[in-house]
Amino acid sequence: MRVPIIAANWKMNTTPGEAVELVKAMKKKLTGIQGVEKVICPPFVSLTIVKDLLKNTSIRLGAQNMHYARGGAYTGEISPVMLSELCDFVIIGHSERRAYFGETDQTVNKKIRAALELGLTPIVCVGETLDQNEAGETIEVITRQVKAAFSGIEAIEGTVIAYEPIWAIGTGKAAKGDQANAISRLIRSVIAQLYGAQVAADIRIQYGGSVTATNVDEFIGQTDVDGALVGGASLKAAEFVGIVEQTSKLKTAG
Ligand code: PGA
Repeated sequence: MRVPIIAANWKMNTTPGEAVELVKAMKKKLTGIQGVEKVICPPFVSLTIVKDLLKNTSIRLGAQNMHYARGGAYTGEISPVMLSELCDFVIIGHSERRAYFGETDQTVNKKIRAALELGLTPIVCVGETLDQNEAGETIEVITRQVKAAFSGIEAIEGTVIAYEPIWAIGTGKAAKGDQANAISRLIRSVIAQLYGAQVAADIRIQYGGSVTATNVDEFIGQTDVDGALVGGASLKAAEFVGIVEQTSKLKTAG
């Protein structure tokens, strides 16, 4: 059985002070929810303070990005070694990083490799643009992104994949549940080709893109969607708690 995983991607939002307030506002309720893995990914500057607040809770910590090198002359960058002391998860290849910061399938591949080597669990993001979607290229794009992401990497146990159609991110226009499920199944089949049936059956695949407490059921109710990567709605404590609560209800009911 795959344990559902809901991750909060705060993006470039919250000062350290605001991060503390937001964690305090959701921590107690989140901790009490069973059967769902909960991950909070604040900005780098708040990782240590949020780590302290999450001590002795069931809520895990993640980063939103990292460099693939372990250290060196890369002014302004954060390495996987640094993160491995602080958190368990790291989001890799988010579409905003691909679109605005020059990330490619190749850098994504290097980052996944580096994360796994240091015991960090990557949350690997893939997703098609609106143009690609409308041109009927979704299957091709997602297949290519998944294959390239894991190219030459021998073992990926524990890795999480987030299917995030770019047209659904921050737009309020979430995908339909059955679309998200179809692409999740596609991703699972690509993983099966690469790593075999057992790894494919175990890997957790999230949907991301305008998930709210109101629409999360549509995704969580699907056979192949194992959680959500949540942006905007994760900045509101009650909304994020609602998403995790709904997930727990649906996944533990069946
Ligand atoms: P959104 O962002 O929930 O605000 O659409 C999701 C994401 O980019 O991870």
